[in-house]
Amino acid sequence: MKSEVKTQTPRKTKITLIVILVAGISLLHYLSDKSLYYYHVFYGELYFLPIVMTGFWFGLRGALATSLGITACYLPFVYWHWHGFSPEDFDRILSVLLYNSSAVLIGILKNREVNANKGRLEAERLAAMGKSLAAVAHDMKTPLVAIGGLARRLQKKFKENDPDREKSGIIIRETERLEKMMHNMLDFSKPLELQLSHGDINEIAENSATIVSETAQKRKIAIECKLANSLPRVAVDAIRMKQAVVNLALNAVEASPEGEIVTLCTSDADHEVIIDVVDCGGGISLAHRAKVFDPFFTTKKEGTGLGLAIVKKIMDAHKGSLEIVDNSPKGTIFRVMLPKQ
Ligand SMILES: Nc1ncnc2c1ncn2[C@@H]1O[C@H](COP(=O)(O)OP(=O)(O)O)[C@@H](O)[C@H]1O
Ligand SMILES: [Mg+2]
Repeated sequence: MKSEVKTQTPRKTKITLIVILVAGISLLHYLSDKSLYYYHVFYGELYFLPIVMTGFWFGLRGALATSLGITACYLPFVYWHWHGFSPEDFDRILSVLLYNSSAVLIGILKNREVNANKGRLEAERLAAMGKSLAAVAHDMKTPLVAIGGLARRLQKKFKENDPDREKSGIIIRETERLEKMMHNMLDFSKPLELQLSHGDINEIAENSATIVSETAQKRKIAIECKLANSLPRVAVDAIRMKQAVVNLALNAVEASPEGEIVTLCTSDADHEVIIDVVDCGGGISLAHRAKVFDPFFTTKKEGTGLGLAIVKKIMDAHKGSLEIVDNSPKGTIFRVMLPKQ
């Protein structure tokens, strides 16, 4: 990694090089005699060099900054040589337009390439992570089932008031937590094969609310559904979608203070059917918003950080999308959008 950083030309050196090039070419223009027309044509073409270089190094913004800098350096020269719309004048004006349009084109192409690479690297990173997780989860499975089973059998042997009964209870609870984590790891790492059917989104929202209601009750949070009167059926894997909505609703419950309400709202938009999971919790800071979908990102003491990564995976498989919206006056809305077609 270190050597990689060392071999790259630092940003400052690149910028200095570009400035020297633009200044050098401009000086050639201003210092050469007016009559040397073909020399000036050649110098004009040299301006493409810094434009291509900045476009390649810094993308659209860099290329545009260079072409505008060149325009600023070159326009006084055009004015100085002005003959009143002679073919040469026209040629020079055209060159200025060409500098800027090629900067835009090179910049856009470079930005596109960078974004495509980012997406590819992210997909490769997630695939590698998924593979290692699957291996770890697979190895954890058998010993965990054995530990949980033995602890349950052991607990039955202790009397109600035996202090060892409480200890075996802790083993059982912690094993269950690890088992849940292992299921999450497997869900995240396994390729998702959807069983699509024409699903009723209102039914999915209601079922998800029922699944979460027990946990919500324990935390003194109410779960409400506000369902749209009629919704078109959409192609959906009902089990997976329920898993996604339950994950979102659990997060909403965990983020809410006692006495609050978590609401699941469904609605019909032009091209999508929407499920909003609404809470009145502390909200998500802008800094965290970029990270919450990363696997293992968690701010909770006992969190796995896999809930939202799984939701994202389920939404991607449905070609749907997921948005975080601020709730007013406080809290968060996780908006699930499923395409109608
Ligand atoms: N409704 C919400 N309100 C506030 N923060 C949230 C909400 N949902 C998710 N988060 C944040 O996103 C993080 C990642 O969530 P998740 O992937 O479900 O993992 P976990 O719940 O195990 O922490 C949480 O730890 C929390 O910081
Ligand atoms: Mg969660």
